[in-house]
Amino acid sequence: MRYFITGTAGFIGFHLARRLLEEGHDVAGFDGMTPYYSLRLKEARNAALVQFPSFHAIMGMLEDAALLKAAISAFKPDVIVHLAAQAGVRYSLENPKAYLDSNLVGSWNILEAAREVGVGHLMLASTSSVYGANPGIPFHETDKADEPLTFYAATKKSMELMAHSYSHLHKIPTTTFRFFTVYGPWGRPDMALFKFVKAMTEGDEIEIYGEGKMSRDFTYIDDLVQSIIDLSRVVPSEENRVPDLDTLSHQAPFRLVNIGGGQPVGLLDFIETIELEMKMPARRKMLPMQKGDVPRTFASPDLLVALTGRKPETSLTQGVAAFLEWYRQHQQDIG
Ligand SMILES: NC(=O)c1ccc[n+]([C@@H]2O[C@H](COP(=O)([O-])OP(=O)(O)OC[C@H]3O[C@@H](n4cnc5c(N)ncnc54)[C@H](O)[C@@H]3O)[C@@H](O)[C@H]2O)c1
Repeated sequence: MRYFITGTAGFIGFHLARRLLEEGHDVAGFDGMTPYYSLRLKEARNAALVQFPSFHAIMGMLEDAALLKAAISAFKPDVIVHLAAQAGVRYSLENPKAYLDSNLVGSWNILEAAREVGVGHLMLASTSSVYGANPGIPFHETDKADEPLTFYAATKKSMELMAHSYSHLHKIPTTTFRFFTVYGPWGRPDMALFKFVKAMTEGDEIEIYGEGKMSRDFTYIDDLVQSIIDLSRVVPSEENRVPDLDTLSHQAPFRLVNIGGGQPVGLLDFIETIELEMKMPARRKMLPMQKGDVPRTFASPDLLVALTGRKPETSLTQGVAAFLEWYRQHQQDIG
């Protein structure tokens, strides 16, 4: 199969591309190497991918509609997986325009290119942040998600809505997944696991927001990649509608799916797991909740299981250990 993936120098795109290349697929990777975090880390991921002869790297910004369309048109993908985005909840307070440009304009350019070139399956990355402070747990895809607490979440929810209209108008089979706090080797330096391990390694305090009372449904990267690959084979159509649970639209071949295991962990338990694995205590600095933070995330994995027969299962202990092993080997190179 031919996969066109955006965001392959990023954490999730890198893992997805590598796994597909190892399985013998052709992959085109489109990434603009944005300076949101260490470019050395992005370059190291890209360098690992270009070792594969069936990887085609394209350096470019999503906002460059002509380049994006030409790249998709030339590659003729069976599947497009759109992961490139301005990610991160907190940075959307500082620089909302980056989110507008990448997540709205950039995602719209993907939709336009998919419409013009045609593709068998378009897959888009959204986020658990769209649930805001959802009162009901676990979070079901059918829950109302109309009260975003950050501009990041607002742009991702807007992308979901734009994609539904394109799916309806132009008959583009579209799966939009909502990811829940993904972690693992080659992870993002702005996320908690990376920040905590770095601070502890360097003898600094770790900053614990919300007095540690938050919880997150953590998803190990290999499980997430497996779910994306599983879902790439379930092209939305009436033939695979799941009774009761499904978000498959009645107007379009469009579906929303959570990718999360449904096993939330409290922030203090998360820190304890890291302490146990690093065999050292963390020096803790308790801080209040930050603006826009949600108290908890908790995925219902029922639709994912109904569609694919499995859900993320890797334990936090195993996942943190794998991250630590990678971090120890690479901390010199990633800046
Ligand atoms: N990591 C998580 O826990 C998580 C959770 C929910 C949703 N997501 C979503 O998953 C996707 C991948 O996240 P990630 O953690 O791999 O992030 P990442 O920041 O590591 O990767 C994103 C990649 O996209 C590229 N990019 C950003 N804006 C671009 C633009 N305008 N043009 C071209 N390239 C651009 C960046 O250079 C980067 O390499 C994103 O859409 C993110 O919103 C991630």
